[in-house]
Amino acid sequence: MSLAGKTAIVTGAASGIGLATARRLAVAGASVAIWDLNEEGAQAAAAALVGEGRRAIASRVDVSKRADADAAVKAAREQLGPVGILVNNAGMSAFTPFMEIGEELWDRIMTVNLKSLLVCTQAVLPDMLEAKWGRVINVSSSSAQTGAATMVHYAASKGGVIGFTKALAQELAATGITVNNVPPGFVDTPMLREQLKDRVDMIAAASPMKRPGRPEDMAAAIAFLASEEAGYITGHTLSVNGGRYS
Ligand code: NAI
Repeated sequence: MSLAGKTAIVTGAASGIGLATARRLAVAGASVAIWDLNEEGAQAAAAALVGEGRRAIASRVDVSKRADADAAVKAAREQLGPVGILVNNAGMSAFTPFMEIGEELWDRIMTVNLKSLLVCTQAVLPDMLEAKWGRVINVSSSSAQTGAATMVHYAASKGGVIGFTKALAQELAATGITVNNVPPGFVDTPMLREQLKDRVDMIAAASPMKRPGRPEDMAAAIAFLASEEAGYITGHTLSVNGGRYS
């Protein structure tokens, strides 16, 4: 599976699933733009790939801000070439009992997890429409499929990601652009460690494969959906959860 000649943007790629995805796409031959709020982390990730002989650049981007996304797409296009692959991965999560979810937190989660898809996808779509080829892969969450106590805000935003995926896939189906989503279940990343702390091992022990997912497990599925070979798959939810369906 080769992505040679393609330019990819991976959001939230300074850490976790995004970082592993940027690496996986670069190893497959793509030139990769690493976007993150964490500028230092993004620069370090790009420098590591360049050090291995890959093509990568980093941009400080707040994925919910149109001006940031537009400027970073321009930089990616100028330095790496027209954008063919967008991985909308950046996101934030929180555990909050329902009655304690304030409007400010609700709006922040919706903005970072959902509005970002509007902003970033609109920024890259002209390149994809012109090329009559594109791959948009959105990182959703198993919490939108199964529900998750104290994550109503998060699950609602990620349910929105799945609806966004299906609707845009229909709208673009005849253009050569596919839109799919990957809902991680329980992946060992800084986000998970920060939130679950010492419960990670306990939850892993109770899961079918007795281990959390690895960022690389998600990256492999995302890279497949980005490939030429996945061209007849669109509007799909590709669960990568080690058999954990509830
Ligand atoms: P992480 O915390 O390791 O990485 C997320 C990255 O996104 C960070 O580098 C952060 O700086 C960046 N980011 C956050 N807000 C941003 C913004 N407004 N603009 C640009 N960058 C921003 O998290 P992880 O676990 O790798 O999560 C990646 C995606 O996977 C998220 O969308 C998350 O909701 C989703 N997910 C993760 C699961 C897990 O078990 N780790 C489970 C289900 C979904």
